[in-house]
Amino acid sequence: MITIVIAEAALEMVPKELLNHPSVTRAAERKGKKPEETLLDISYHYAAMKNMENWDRRGRPDITYLTLLNLLERPLNKTGQLTVYVHTLDNYILEIDREINLPRNYARFQGLIEQLFEVGRVPPLGKPLMLLKRGTLEDIVKNVSHSSTILLTEKGKTVRSGDYFPELLKKGDPLIVIGGFQRGEFSKQNLKLADEKISLYKDALDTWIIASMVSHELERAKGII
Ligand SMILES: C[S@@+](CC[C@H](N)C(=O)[O-])C[C@H]1O[C@@H](n2cnc3c(N)ncnc32)[C@H](O)[C@@H]1O
Repeated sequence: MITIVIAEAALEMVPKELLNHPSVTRAAERKGKKPEETLLDISYHYAAMKNMENWDRRGRPDITYLTLLNLLERPLNKTGQLTVYVHTLDNYILEIDREINLPRNYARFQGLIEQLFEVGRVPPLGKPLMLLKRGTLEDIVKNVSHSSTILLTEKGKTVRSGDYFPELLKKGDPLIVIGGFQRGEFSKQNLKLADEKISLYKDALDTWIIASMVSHELERAKGII
């Protein structure tokens, strides 16, 4: 089983210190929710976020949404050969069941994640399709069986993906880490978890493009497509 982790994802609920900011209360009101029941989203909360620490690595749930769609709807997942985790910047882990049918509408996805942070699971009853736990990227690396940990970064060793992934799979099932944030690099601590850091292109690309490139090469290497 191949594991892909969307790591340090810019996904969190509105933090306490912003709950009374007008941009937060207005956006919550439009949704018919309390501010503490809503996800931090820079599209609505920029005025509140601009003085926050790390503001340019937070409040982008759309990155996780688009990346999950790109991973879960691909043949690699549909053939049962992929497990996906989301690790967030403030150390939550989302366990995602491969059979989840993610909404094609972003507002509905936001609603599901808000429910996940409130209740700890989606749906609240029956077989869980998403589970929320506390944990670090290191916890995932320690607890998930894998042959090697490969971290994707534009600053890594440049590889030709068509050659690299077939070779990688010969050694077993890797755990592949892709950043779920919009700017900057992984923390030093998380960079240390990698057996290898690789770059697929000279410039930084969006997380969902890299996720799609990686899963495409894995599907080709496995003869799925
Ligand atoms: C939008 S990038 C992160 C921000 C980027 N470092 C920057 O400062 O613009 C999101 C993630 O996609 C992956 N990524 C982006 N470009 C890449 C590349 N050229 N090669 C390998 N991975 C890449 C990395 O995992 C990265 O953390």
